[in-house]
Amino acid sequence: MCGIVAAVADRDIVPVLLEGLRKLEYRGYDSAGLALIDADGLRRLRAVGRVSGLAAQVEESHVSGHIGISHTRWATHGVPCERNAHPHISGGLAVVHNGIIENHEALRLRLKGEGYEFTSDTDTEVVAHLIASELKKTADFFTAARTAIAQLQGAFAIAVLRQDNPDRLVVAREGAPLLLGLAEDGNYAASDVAALLQVTRRIVYLENGDCAELTRDGFRITRVDGTPVERAETESQLSADAVELGQYRHYMQKEIFEQPVALSNTLEMLGTARSIQPGLFGADTESLLKDARQVLIIACGTSYHAGLVARYWLEAIAGIPCNVEVASEYRYRESVSDPDTLVVTLSQSGETADTLAALEHAKAQGMTRTLCICNVPESSLVRANALRFITRAGPEIGVASTKAFTTQLAALYLLTLILAKLRGRLSPALEASELQALRHLPSALTKVLELEPQIREWSERFAMKQDALFLGRGRHYPIALEGALKLKEITYIHAEAYPAGELKHGPLALVDKEMPVIAVAPNDILLEKLKSNLQEVRARGGELYVFADADSEMMASDGIHLMRLPEHYGQLSALLHVVPLQLLAYHVALVRGTDVDKPRNLAKSVTVE
Ligand code: F6R
Repeated sequence: MCGIVAAVADRDIVPVLLEGLRKLEYRGYDSAGLALIDADGLRRLRAVGRVSGLAAQVEESHVSGHIGISHTRWATHGVPCERNAHPHISGGLAVVHNGIIENHEALRLRLKGEGYEFTSDTDTEVVAHLIASELKKTADFFTAARTAIAQLQGAFAIAVLRQDNPDRLVVAREGAPLLLGLAEDGNYAASDVAALLQVTRRIVYLENGDCAELTRDGFRITRVDGTPVERAETESQLSADAVELGQYRHYMQKEIFEQPVALSNTLEMLGTARSIQPGLFGADTESLLKDARQVLIIACGTSYHAGLVARYWLEAIAGIPCNVEVASEYRYRESVSDPDTLVVTLSQSGETADTLAALEHAKAQGMTRTLCICNVPESSLVRANALRFITRAGPEIGVASTKAFTTQLAALYLLTLILAKLRGRLSPALEASELQALRHLPSALTKVLELEPQIREWSERFAMKQDALFLGRGRHYPIALEGALKLKEITYIHAEAYPAGELKHGPLALVDKEMPVIAVAPNDILLEKLKSNLQEVRARGGELYVFADADSEMMASDGIHLMRLPEHYGQLSALLHVVPLQLLAYHVALVRGTDVDKPRNLAKSVTVE
């Protein structure tokens, strides 16, 4: 979603702002803008579309400066257009904002009453006018900004600059990510470390409710009421290469092919031991997990699908009841809580607003055994949980999640094994063989990736379709869901997924020769049942595309296209079966010419509700 980069430094900050915005492009956006102060005062440039459009304007107008703020906007209030693009200006100050100001209507009315004129449909413009209004009461920029910010409700990150204080920036964070970057030549702020690696690795993460004032030589952080606070400086370990495209055409392709490495990095801590190390999820793992009576998994989108797969494992292997909830539903649902529930939040970004709010909701219900599985170590979610497991997939830039999903599944399988062990359901021999199966996953997955040429061939046939149906059973039903999500996200083909046994309860009515039906068909105990379901499709003229296992007796025939995965992988087969579906979506998107890494209307990090 929206991204912020701000700088006050000795150098010309315009190239830093533009490069920072480029690094944030993956978050999803529809317009971009910047404001800076130069010898002529406050300057603003805005462009609908890509950062390259803003860069072209910069080149034409030859702007430069030592202090500036910049932004990529993902429209929430008001259509994507130049008028709504950030920064927003009031008098001599400019504001960029990420998030949603929930009380913007009331503030707008009040500010209109004070004579302020609004030129956009955004909630952000109220922030600019509100600070300007506070500056009538105090000459101190930081105090005025803080007083205005204290009146805002919602989740936001904000950066402000002012012509009359050309040496300082004010930033604030409440519920949306924002961090400071400290460098020899100045100080910086951004939504994401990736934007600042070009200038520094020295990072200070702001907490919710923090405001900061940055000058070229230093910074100070206070709470919104002005109370000073200290926040630790950390050294970012993120490698600059990790966010480069390298030999690949798209980040999604790169990330699909990075899955074997992502898995081996995530599982590295297992070493070669025959048993799982205690404390894999944090020092209190045993005490918090031992007496848990049930598991509640909360997540959104692809992460939610990982949770759905895990439910099959947790109940079958660890024998523990498990519920999986969509975060945006759970946070508002009047549910029955049990303090002995282990609450597991899953998130690639760790900044998903609904997941964070759902976790707070669970805690408010008295559920304090909390664990998150997350890919971003410094994220808000990681800080909010008692236990944590960091998947080591590396930065995921493509909007469609791929390697985060498979590494989440590996982490969830480890959780299953730990719970099974604590509950006396894992013999030492079984434990050793399960660990062996996990360790072998990267090489099994590498072989699945070799199916790419065949999948590319299939993709040609899908590219002209309007709809597709995905079927699976058991723990592969969530894989069908994930396959359908990938296809719709990046190809804009309407796709639905069903547990195959549900076909004749409704969706069979959709099946005709125009509807490709994709079946996830591993060689498990449900295969025979699935085959009968597939016959029902065939009998209605439906064309079947089946992903089977190497040892399956299924055969291709007229109207049944078959691809075999190299290995039959038992409980963990969901991790392998999702990969051809990711590749299928990717190649169909290539044929259709869609923007694979930045599909329309979507954002990578969903930091608003
Ligand atoms: C789909 C996708 C989204 C995310 C969802 C949750 O490809 O990426 O559905 O999975 O927005 O995001 P995280 O995992 O960051 O909480």
